[in-house]
Amino acid sequence: MKKNILIGLVIATLFTIQTAFAQHAFQKYYPPTDTLVQKKLEWWQGIKFGLLMHWGTYSQWGIVESWSLCPEDEVWCERRGEFSKNYFEYKRAYEGLIKTFNPVNFDPSKWAKAAKEAGMRYVVFTTKHHDGFCMFDTKQTEYKITSSICPFSTNPKSNIAKEVFNAFRNEGFGIGAYFSKPDWHYPDYWDPYFPPFDRNPNYDLNKYPEKWNRYKQFTANQIKELMSDYGKVDILWLDGGWVQPMTESSPRWGRVPNHQDIDMPKIVAMSRKLQPGLIVVDRAVEGSNQNYLTPEQELPDTLLPYPWETCMTIANSWSYVPNDTYKPARQLIHLLCKIVSRGGNFLLNIGSDPNGDFDPIAYDRLKEIGKWMTLNGNAIYSTKPIFPYQAGKVVLTAKGKSVFAIYLIDENETELPSLIKIDRFSVKKIKRVTIIGSNTSLKVKVLEKGIGIEIPEKHRKIGIDSYALVFKLDI
Ligand code: GLC
Repeated sequence: MKKNILIGLVIATLFTIQTAFAQHAFQKYYPPTDTLVQKKLEWWQGIKFGLLMHWGTYSQWGIVESWSLCPEDEVWCERRGEFSKNYFEYKRAYEGLIKTFNPVNFDPSKWAKAAKEAGMRYVVFTTKHHDGFCMFDTKQTEYKITSSICPFSTNPKSNIAKEVFNAFRNEGFGIGAYFSKPDWHYPDYWDPYFPPFDRNPNYDLNKYPEKWNRYKQFTANQIKELMSDYGKVDILWLDGGWVQPMTESSPRWGRVPNHQDIDMPKIVAMSRKLQPGLIVVDRAVEGSNQNYLTPEQELPDTLLPYPWETCMTIANSWSYVPNDTYKPARQLIHLLCKIVSRGGNFLLNIGSDPNGDFDPIAYDRLKEIGKWMTLNGNAIYSTKPIFPYQAGKVVLTAKGKSVFAIYLIDENETELPSLIKIDRFSVKKIKRVTIIGSNTSLKVKVLEKGIGIEIPEKHRKIGIDSYALVFKLDI
């Protein structure tokens, strides 16, 4: 009996992971035909490492972003705290957070500098999450950071998204606008007359087509504002994949999924008129408006043969949660190397606290990654994957006449092996092998199944803050 339950649980878990992942990573890819988009994608594939930020009024409660408003029986929708027992009281209190949001420490140039030092080269910022609170000065709703009932509205930096984009652009970053298609505040998505029953609209779209039309217009207007008034934008990162036309094969989310067509082709055409070459990521919506795919919190097993990006949290939550557990620098660096070796980009998420700053641990992590990237960035930026991508503890990248073999060092490893084997790897000729950061040439052995790099005794000792060692093979 117990065993059956266990097997059931394992299957259920596998199934959930599989479906969550499948929606983001293993859909069919439709390459763009617009040459400007192709060019921008190529640029984007070269910069490899970006910062995702989730920030909103919810950070004041230190809870998961938006999801506690969603009346689905899922762990991530759980309500906590004094208002949790009554849904409607809870929603009122959550939305009331606008009246106390006052992030006086907000200084996006500090974030941009720290991210740049870490080697990041693009940013994706939540202009609006599912809760509908706008971190930009939209004209379409008063539920926004610049509303007169929000204390931060009098601050000269109150148009937060604009300030973030400007600060990062000043540091040479590519700019990405995260925008949630669903909006749980707007009355034409969740009509206050009806109780919401899941993440989807709470009314029948066929019965109230004029409502849905208003919603479409509202969404298009907001996106138009972001594409018009916020300088050059490189990526429109659209979340809330359940807002999509329902077809035979489209995934089902929530209890009452429905045909949520918002005329995406029209929105994309309008956006590209304003931002030529714009990369659009209509996440989890199979088709030509998903210029790259976005596995979430996942490292694909091997190379994915299309542009893709893993988005992942630096701690456990997308939003700021006090005392969250941050991933160690070693793990983050290894993830970056593995993702890049499989042909992807790494979009690492940090949530800001309610006052407008990161946890000090986040800055430590960025510094540590930066130390590694300053020395070894050449093995990351503008590289291409090369077979077999990974061989044991070695991951491979390639650029021009160089192959980089990145040896991922374990936490307690104090000494390198005398021979580092790279199984299944072969090239016609290797002219020279060096360790990045030192000029010594190393010897290479051709083995039956690949190659081996010989490590002389005096180079075997591993320092405690050494996370990954890069061998440069000139071919
Ligand atoms: C998940 C979360 C959502 C978050 C997104 C970022 O889908 O549910 O809140 O914005 O990941 O990738």
